[in-house]
Amino acid sequence: MKTLIKNGNVVTATDNYFADVFIEDDKVSVIGARLDIEADKVIDAAGKLVIPGGIDPHTHMELPFGGTSSSDDFRTGTIAAAHGGTTTIIDFAVQAHGESLKQAVDNWHAKAEGKTAIDYGFHLITTDLPDERVPEMKDLIGEGISSFKLFMAYPGVFLSDDATIYRAMKAAGKDGGLICMHAENGIVINEIIKNALAEGKTAPKFHALTRPTKAEAEGVHRAIAIAEMAEAPVYIVHLSCSDALDEVREARDLGLPAYAETCPQYLFLDYTHYEQEGFEGAKFVMTPPLREKWNQEKLWAGLRTDDLQVVSTDHCPFCFKEQKELGLNDFTKIPNGGPGVEHRMSLIYNGGVAQGRISVNRFVELTSTAAAKIFGLFPRKGTIAVGSDADIVIFDANATQTLSASTHHMNVDYSCYEGMTVQGATKTVLSRGRVVIEEGKFTGKAGDGQFLKRGTFGGWY
Ligand code: URP
Ligand code: ZN
Ligand code: ZN
Repeated sequence: MKTLIKNGNVVTATDNYFADVFIEDDKVSVIGARLDIEADKVIDAAGKLVIPGGIDPHTHMELPFGGTSSSDDFRTGTIAAAHGGTTTIIDFAVQAHGESLKQAVDNWHAKAEGKTAIDYGFHLITTDLPDERVPEMKDLIGEGISSFKLFMAYPGVFLSDDATIYRAMKAAGKDGGLICMHAENGIVINEIIKNALAEGKTAPKFHALTRPTKAEAEGVHRAIAIAEMAEAPVYIVHLSCSDALDEVREARDLGLPAYAETCPQYLFLDYTHYEQEGFEGAKFVMTPPLREKWNQEKLWAGLRTDDLQVVSTDHCPFCFKEQKELGLNDFTKIPNGGPGVEHRMSLIYNGGVAQGRISVNRFVELTSTAAAKIFGLFPRKGTIAVGSDADIVIFDANATQTLSASTHHMNVDYSCYEGMTVQGATKTVLSRGRVVIEEGKFTGKAGDGQFLKRGTFGGWY
């Protein structure tokens, strides 16, 4: 199959020029001005941006949590991702207590195989990592699962103590793995929660009020300090606030290999969402919680200055009816997480480029290239270059769209951004040369997505 994308404005993390892009089967094979080559399919991209497919390195499809499971599976979640211009996700497999790391990953392969519409990789959440299991990390790195998430939060469920964190970081650092850290001091948070419940504070807003920014900042500080002692890099996931960002900036200014992502919810939504009528606030119960609004500009500044390298979504949807409602009388029973995989690209284009906070190159870097580099996918993914996978989005930077649960494709009954109009919309999406979205319609096939064996952490950054 030969496809020619003509007349577009090609934008990568570093370049911005007008050119045609010729694709043979799944790879980009020629890029040049006014290409005169026969093709089976010609796509006219005049007036549009031609950008690398988005990479969302933080999703949770079918994640068991709080007695239920996140409502998107690998089919619905990856189709929704494709609609929004994301052509690769990295999802988090979870190790159950007592389970081998390989078994955990096999379970996730079984969830994803034959279902995904776009390419995908896995990180592994470890919950049980005694000394004798540590060598299994190296085996997984060899199988392309080169990053591991550990939690400083959720004692008794996900939490790893400092000894385990050090052990995991030491092993990862030695073998080219990367530790992703959920950095919140869960031990202190649990005490605060206990006191709140004893005082009868059960409404959704207490989810936020029991998780102070200092608990996150302390986690980030400790994660980076342990990584320094273990001589390993560390990647902070879903960073939400200025206090935590200060810790990352300080470390990076010292030259430490500390990296961090934030998510659209922390850039566009704020604490007041928990103050809505009735149980509405439950829609926004996620960890870390939404913060006071003034944090948002600090996070945008971090994205601009590279103290934050990536925007992921932490997509972890639970329906308001029946799932979020599990916590009607007790905020600690509300499953944590929210939907987002579909609208990351448009939200960041809108808030970033259209509103003058970042350049269009930085937009590409934050939504695609940096994740490819950090998570061992570059240059196969994350750029438009000869030899790279033809994961390409034709993006209309002038189109507007209004976000709503009534039009989105995620399998969830609400949108965090209901009624918000954004500038920037995906028109056509190619995943390894196949057109998977055309004029807003899914034209791909669930099952066509490939598992990506990722490389080791190479210090691209
Ligand atoms: O609330 C969240 N973030 N749910 C997903 C699990 C996690 O901690 O990433
Ligand atoms: Zn987390
Ligand atoms: Zn997450």
